[in-house]
Amino acid sequence: MALVASASALSLAACGVVDGIGGGDSSESPDKGDDVTVGLLLPDKDTARFEKFDHPLIKKEVASLTHDKGKVVYANAESSTDKQSRQFQQMIDDAVDVILVDALDSKAIAPDVQKAKDAGIPVIAYDRLAEGPIDAYVSHDNELVGEVQGRALVEDLGAKAATSKVVMMNGDPADPNTARFKKGALDELEGEVNIVKRYDTDKWSPEIAKANMEKAISAVGLDNIAAVYSANDGMAGAVIDALKESGASKIPPVTGQDANLDAVQRIVAGEQFMSVYKSFLLEATNAAKMAVFKAQGRTIQFDALTQDSVDSPTQDGIPAQLVSVVPLTKSNIKQTVIQDGVYTVKDICTAEYKSDCAAIGLN
Ligand code: GAL
Repeated sequence: MALVASASALSLAACGVVDGIGGGDSSESPDKGDDVTVGLLLPDKDTARFEKFDHPLIKKEVASLTHDKGKVVYANAESSTDKQSRQFQQMIDDAVDVILVDALDSKAIAPDVQKAKDAGIPVIAYDRLAEGPIDAYVSHDNELVGEVQGRALVEDLGAKAATSKVVMMNGDPADPNTARFKKGALDELEGEVNIVKRYDTDKWSPEIAKANMEKAISAVGLDNIAAVYSANDGMAGAVIDALKESGASKIPPVTGQDANLDAVQRIVAGEQFMSVYKSFLLEATNAAKMAVFKAQGRTIQFDALTQDSVDSPTQDGIPAQLVSVVPLTKSNIKQTVIQDGVYTVKDICTAEYKSDCAAIGLN
């Protein structure tokens, strides 16, 4: 798959490491051979990326790093913190070699991380910074995500920005990324626009976001809302539905994140202003490499992938890799999701979007 080739090329460029990673030639007395079992814990099924990209990409990369002998044991918590804890415990009981966890609740997961540590199983935090004694963290530059969203809104509002009323839909407070997205966005928005309503959204639920948007519309007035900052695409879709159902004739600019297929289609149709394109490919393949190298005791390769460093509330100096992000608008669909093989023109330009696609040269 084209996706994988470009991922390794990009990741080497991104973190400036030398050739040879993944080749297996320079391993130093590995603890394990190819028979590595990676436990993968993802948080929910409401956000398209986890089932559609993260899991399959990690599975594919683990197979390719281990001559098809390694495997990924996968569990999705379906938005239940208790379920994630049980799934985590099961992986410890099954003695997997390494655990990759995208925590639903970064604090609540800490005792499970500690149990894995006590059982000698390394834990790598995936996308969200889990608390407790983790071995490494791989994510995107999450503050940059918020900055990119906020800056795009301010630029789009232009001269009207100072008098513009903006509604802010933030993510789940139990997700540590939410605070980073919010901080980045507020750095760009505060002092530039007038934020009239702010909401947190438990579990990133589109239903909750929709209900909050309905409240904002009745409090502020449909015609007075100049823009909506939405932290991700799932909520952006719900916000746009609420605006339409309230009778909006023109949808104000709405931000998003994740480059979900339906969001890219809304961008093509001019309903959603922008999304943030995060290369799940880079994040997932690098996570798979970190997990396999960690399990195999290939320290040099592991260290080369974790040149950044982050602090969590419970631990300082966590080796990390933070992948960069780019804004996704009508103007760069080709250079981002299509070029990286995330979607084809055919995926995006279905019958409903044919003419909008043609209007921006997507065909
Ligand atoms: C964040 C993640 C985003 C988005 C969101 C919703 O932690 O970084 O990509 O998917 O969760 O679950």
